[in-house]
Amino acid sequence: MPISVLKLLSATEFRSGEEISQRLGLSRASVHNLVERARELGVEIHAVRGKGYRLAEPYSWLAGERLAAASPRGFNVLLHQEVDSTNSLLLGLAQQGQDHKSVLVAEWQSGGRGRRGRSWFSSLGAGLTFSLLWRFNRPLTALSGLSLAIGVALARGLSALDLAGVKVKWPNDILVDGRKLAGILIETHGDMLSAATAVIGIGINVRARPDALGTADYAAVAVEEVLGRQLDRNELLLRLLAELDEVLKTFDLYGFAPFRDEWQQLHVWQDKPVCVLGSGSAPIEGIALGVDEAGILQVATADGVRAIHSGEVSLRARAAG
Ligand code: BTN
Repeated sequence: MPISVLKLLSATEFRSGEEISQRLGLSRASVHNLVERARELGVEIHAVRGKGYRLAEPYSWLAGERLAAASPRGFNVLLHQEVDSTNSLLLGLAQQGQDHKSVLVAEWQSGGRGRRGRSWFSSLGAGLTFSLLWRFNRPLTALSGLSLAIGVALARGLSALDLAGVKVKWPNDILVDGRKLAGILIETHGDMLSAATAVIGIGINVRARPDALGTADYAAVAVEEVLGRQLDRNELLLRLLAELDEVLKTFDLYGFAPFRDEWQQLHVWQDKPVCVLGSGSAPIEGIALGVDEAGILQVATADGVRAIHSGEVSLRARAAG
């Protein structure tokens, strides 16, 4: 992974290949290969013969020392440079007894997963990808609405960082201006009746990249694009963990109900005409009334109110006319 090299590069001055190879104890050829690899992963690096390498723009690399600021709240942040998927790795660790409130954050995911078998991709340094292990006191059967509550936590954290116009889309996308900013993938472990363990995976587009952001079937937007400035990804993660802590503690005690009003205020299609597409079933058209206390979407159709359960459907704004 080229992070060790990237951490030595600056956006303001050139660093010679010689200096980098000495600092890292690597051959010049290895430094060259790592720079090439970083470019392949989406980092723009200028190289000038006789001067060396310079980053095209500053990056905030994830820093274990800074992320340790989450430990007073009981989080145990595990920083990995490269993983297949933070969710997959943390699920495996959860099965081996990994602690409650472990957070696995990766600079790079080679096989990031989205919902419904899609993949989740971010360029190196341009996304924030992490998973949080939460051991609930309630059973799996009482986790209904969890992804919506997580959406509220993310919206709170992003708004606290001055991001305007953050909305939620049922069941678990974060949008700005109708474009996808972040996605949530929750995977659970345990049987139906004993206390549930969830791995809550969150992927956020932080910096816009010309190549695909997030999942390819949505128009995407990035945090820095909305903010109009650069944002330290360590600061973003710490802010989100603080909000997730509050929300998950409340959720464990009371479920989704305390978040329902706030969620509906953030709901991008609240009281608007929608079309719900189920797999294999006919589309349902109606007005999105919001969600009930379990987070189940309520749609007023010509045949009465229909309850739409999480995970079964996708939702699109109804075409005009
Ligand atoms: C979606 O919108 O489809 C959900 C995307 C979730 C992506 C995150 S990135 C961190 C965690 N690890 C994964 O492999 N996926 C989730």
